[in-house]
Amino acid sequence: MADERGVPEPRAGEKEELKSMFTKKTVRDIDVKGKRVLVRVDFNVPITDGEVEDDTRICSALPTIQYLKEEGAKIVLVTHLGRPKGEVVDEFRLDPVAHYLNEKLGIPVKKLNRSVNGEVSEAVDSMSPGDIVLLENIRFYPGESKNDPEFASKLASIADIYVSDAFGTSHRAHASVVGVTDYLPSVAGFLLESEIDHLENLMKFPKHPFFAVLGGNKISDKIGVIDKLIDNVDGILTGGGMCFTFLKAKGLSVGNSLVEEEQLDMARGILKKAREKGVSFYLPSDVIIAEEISKEATSKVATVDNIPDGWMGLDIGPQTIDIYQPVLARAKTIFWNGPMGVFEIEAFSQGTLRVAEAIAEQTRKGALSIVGGGDSDAALKRFGLEDKISFVSTGGGASMKVLEGADLPGVMALEDKEL
Ligand code: 3PG
Repeated sequence: MADERGVPEPRAGEKEELKSMFTKKTVRDIDVKGKRVLVRVDFNVPITDGEVEDDTRICSALPTIQYLKEEGAKIVLVTHLGRPKGEVVDEFRLDPVAHYLNEKLGIPVKKLNRSVNGEVSEAVDSMSPGDIVLLENIRFYPGESKNDPEFASKLASIADIYVSDAFGTSHRAHASVVGVTDYLPSVAGFLLESEIDHLENLMKFPKHPFFAVLGGNKISDKIGVIDKLIDNVDGILTGGGMCFTFLKAKGLSVGNSLVEEEQLDMARGILKKAREKGVSFYLPSDVIIAEEISKEATSKVATVDNIPDGWMGLDIGPQTIDIYQPVLARAKTIFWNGPMGVFEIEAFSQGTLRVAEAIAEQTRKGALSIVGGGDSDAALKRFGLEDKISFVSTGGGASMKVLEGADLPGVMALEDKEL
C-alpha cells in the first residue's frame, strides 16, 4: 500500500517506526523534474504461456515509478528476465511484462525492442515528463553480467539520473546495477530503501523473543545466515529438506531423505554454536514420509528415529506442528525463510500451512514478521496469507546477503546521504 504520493505505508505488525538504517540518497533527495531517469527494477517475474503469473515484484516498484511520474520525470525502466546469457532469447523478451503494466495495472508503458543504440536514444529524446519507456531485457547483452564499462556507459548515456529499485538484483555487480553509477548521479528508490531498513532492523533491533523458521532444501545456501541468526535469535525452528542434514549429523538414519553429505560437519558446527549460545535449535520430531515426490504417492507419519529405508521425509509431521505453534505464539519477532515441506502437493503441505498460519496469527497480535522471499513467498500466496505478514522481501539471494551482514554492490554504488 502507498499513500497519495506513492510512498509505501506500514503494513500489519509494523505499527512502530522502523529505525532508518539506510545511508544512501533516495529519490526524495534529488530533483527529477523534466529529467531522464534510468530506473533499474527487478521485473524478473514468473511468466507462463506469455502471461505474468506473479506480479509482486512489479507492484513493489510501483511506488517509485508513480512518485517519479508525479514529479515530472521521464522514466526509462530497465530490468532483466531469466538468464539468457548475453543472447536474445525470445522466451525472455519483456513484452508480457509491458502488456501487464499497460493492460492489467493501467500504467502506460512503451516497450522498446532494444536497450542501447540510436533507436533507444531517439525514443528517449521524444519522451515528455511522466512518460514511461521499458527497455528490452538487459541480459540479452553480454556486457551486462560482465559489468563491461563501455556497455554501462552506453546505457547511462540515455539518462541524466540513475535510480535503483532492484533490490532482488542488488547482490549482482552487473552493468545496469553497478556499472552505470560511474556515469550518473545515482540514488535509491523506495523499495530498495524499505528492504534494507526492514532486514537491517530485524538483525539489529529485534524485539525478543525472536524466532527464525528455516526450511527449504539446502543448508549450503543458508550457512552464513544461520550463523548470523544464532547471534541474534532465541530459537530456530527447522523443516524442509534441510532438516535431514541436521538429523543425519545427529546420527539418525533418514532413509532416502535429502541430505547434503558435504555439509554434515557444518551442520554439527551450527548445532554446537547454538548449544553454546543457549539458542534453542528445534528439529522435527516427526515427519510425513513417502517413497516418491508425487501426488499419487502413499504417505504416512513417522518419527524421525524411524524413517524406513527407501522412504523420504517430505513435510514436518503433526507432533512437530504441535510443538512449533506454541513457540511461535510467544514470538515478538519472526523471520521465515523456506517451506516446511513440498507444499505444492496437498499431502505434504500441512506443515508449511500451519506454520504460515501461526506466523500470520502472531502478526495479527502485534509481532513483526518478515519473510525472506522465494518459495516461502509462493507458499504464502498459495495459502492467501501474504497480506497477513508484516514484510515480504522481494529478494531471495539479496535478502540472504543482507542478513549475513554482507554489503550489496548495487547499494554500495549509490551516493551517500549528506549528514
Ligand atoms: C532473483 O530472481 O533472485 C533476481 O532477479 C536475481 O536473478 P539472478 O539470480 O538470475 O541474478
